[in-house]
Amino acid sequence: MRLLVNIDHVATLRNARGEGYPDISEAARVCEEAGAAGIVFHLRGDRRHIKDEDVFALKDSVKGTLDFEMAATDEMISILKKVNPHLCTLVPEGREELTTEGGLNMEHIFDDFKERVFPSIRETNIEISLFVDPIHKDIELAYQLGAEAIELHTGEYSNSKTDHQRNNELMRLFAGATYAHSLGLKVNAGHGLNLENLPLFLSTVPHLNEVSIGHALISKSLFWGLEKTVKAYLKLIEAYKL
Ligand code: PXP
Repeated sequence: MRLLVNIDHVATLRNARGEGYPDISEAARVCEEAGAAGIVFHLRGDRRHIKDEDVFALKDSVKGTLDFEMAATDEMISILKKVNPHLCTLVPEGREELTTEGGLNMEHIFDDFKERVFPSIRETNIEISLFVDPIHKDIELAYQLGAEAIELHTGEYSNSKTDHQRNNELMRLFAGATYAHSLGLKVNAGHGLNLENLPLFLSTVPHLNEVSIGHALISKSLFWGLEKTVKAYLKLIEAYKL
């Protein structure tokens, strides 16, 4: 099980003043040197954090897995092909949302992904992961499209207000991960994970390949530093491996 660090909010901080710091590539380097297996960024249509030039700088500097998170627009697919990262995670994107609010509406996007998105990305060797809610039907549709991986949306789990809700979400994630694995899909996960909720998640949900963690990790690094923070996440992940 590997840790990918989402560095969007290093760009959020940089953009607050329009200066060149904190530097995205330097942040990525510190994360990787601390042991992260790779870096995720989300180039949004409105470019609110990561900018086009960041993407190319990351392509040149990241040594491990580079995961390009994006909406499946023609514009993004064209940039994806120029960047040629290892992995592309397709997500829904709403203009007004503060962050990605849920998995893809698989029934809604299925035909478009089958006819337009997959054939286009399949001209490359980039692996495709689909961000989905832990729903069997959605996972089945991701499999039918030929995705290499799914990323399970953990936002509902992370935001649970009661034990009952948390346990329900864990059961859904457990079932979703088990089903995806049985279909031969890699199982990634992310959204809202942090040092407090990660241990229960990792000890309950099987077959995990990668977790993608951003906001909580970057926030904690203000107090602890990025290297120490990444190492703290890795320590939790190592404990889960045993
Ligand atoms: N995975 C996906 C698909 C996301 O959209 C995000 C948020 O950009 C993350 C993981 C990371 O979520 P967080 O920033 O809450 O750790």
